[in-house]
Amino acid sequence: MKNVLVTGGAGFIGSNFVRSILQHEPGVHIINLDALTYAGSLENLQDLPSPEQHTFVQGDICDRRLVDKLLRQYEIDTIVHFAAETHVDRSIVDPGAFIQTNVVGTFTLLEAARSAWVVEKPLPLDQVRFHHVSTDEVFGTLAPGDPSFNENTPYAPRSPYAASKASSDHLVRSYFTTFGLPITISNCSNNYGPNQFPEKLIPLMVLHARDGKPLPVYGDGQQVRDWLYVQDHCDAIRLVIQKGRVGETYAVGGDNQPPNLEIVHTICRIMDQLQPNSPYFPHEQLIQFVTDRPGHDRRYSIDISKIQTELGWQPQRSLETGLRETVQWYLEHPDWITAVSQQPDYQSWIQRNYSNREGGVK
Ligand code: NAD
Ligand code: DAU
Repeated sequence: MKNVLVTGGAGFIGSNFVRSILQHEPGVHIINLDALTYAGSLENLQDLPSPEQHTFVQGDICDRRLVDKLLRQYEIDTIVHFAAETHVDRSIVDPGAFIQTNVVGTFTLLEAARSAWVVEKPLPLDQVRFHHVSTDEVFGTLAPGDPSFNENTPYAPRSPYAASKASSDHLVRSYFTTFGLPITISNCSNNYGPNQFPEKLIPLMVLHARDGKPLPVYGDGQQVRDWLYVQDHCDAIRLVIQKGRVGETYAVGGDNQPPNLEIVHTICRIMDQLQPNSPYFPHEQLIQFVTDRPGHDRRYSIDISKIQTELGWQPQRSLETGLRETVQWYLEHPDWITAVSQQPDYQSWIQRNYSNREGGVK
């Protein structure tokens, strides 16, 4: 890993990954290609360690000429592909962008990498890598008592977002089998931590609790997710790139499965402790059950034994510690919150997603 193209590096996980590479891999140069959609922000890239090792390029992964140019100009040997449309609720309202970025964008990157690395071959193939960052949502939903998802679980995506990510996974794998492009894939569960765009459950609840707005819990709140602190995910990706076997998939997760309602209660408890003088104390009075997400996956759970035994990875932060640090981070970064949440797209999304749900957020 010398010259790394990170796609989507101004988003939540991508920006945490950029930070982690700059901290842990001295000498690596990062080219960060990001379109700066509503979900990406240069605010996420403030105060980077070793900023001279980081070059930001605003552009679209679907732009083949741009990707071709970057691969050659910077002699890229590693692509770490985060860029995507990522919010399930938006994929239900407006799926087109998900197909464009997640499917066509991934295809564009694969074609560019095939041409630069497999056809032209400036480097031996064992010195290049295309790592695709994917999700556990490609596996569908679990009933109570079903075994956890693992690398062999059949694909059964149920939302347009999940289906677009499943398509991209299949494309990535096909470029390994057919063209010998050296790829790895990680399928990870729900991430949380600093810099997550506040349309997702945890930052949304923290911001609403801070501001005394309703905390909208979909359906009965008994849906189960597996939560992983973002830095643990970044560590897993670095390990897979450096030590993972080419052509392989690694399932990554936090090894915990709380129902959503429990997560929301925990956030309220942490807010009570951190802001005992808030006019909204106790914060759980703000919880409001609202109309469920269509096709809502009921339960995710990840079997992490492959990455544990092969690569020696396991999550370092407990959910309780990670959640406390996360709530604290949002409360200590009001300028970041203002910058990302005052953009018109965010306000109109909140209106669009919640105003028609029974009990919705005003
Ligand atoms: P995010 O929505 O916070 O950020 C996505 C980034 O991609 C943004 O910076 C955006 O500007 C950029 N982007 C979007 N379309 C682009 C395009 N056409 N060209 C260039 N850049 C573009 O996403 P995230 O939550 O950080 O997720 C990153 C990746 O990890 C995604 O591939 C997602 O599927 C995967 N993933 C996310 C989670 C999670 O819990 N957030 C869990 C597992 C896997
Ligand atoms: O599992 C990995 C996936 O996790 C990633 O691939 C996605 O990119 C990421 O967005 C996330 O998807 P989810 O749909 O699980 O995340 P979200 O934060 O949107 O929702 C988490 C759970 O909380 C889910 O069961 C829906 C519920 N929820 C969400 C919101 C926004 C609510 O109850 N109320 C809400 O307002």
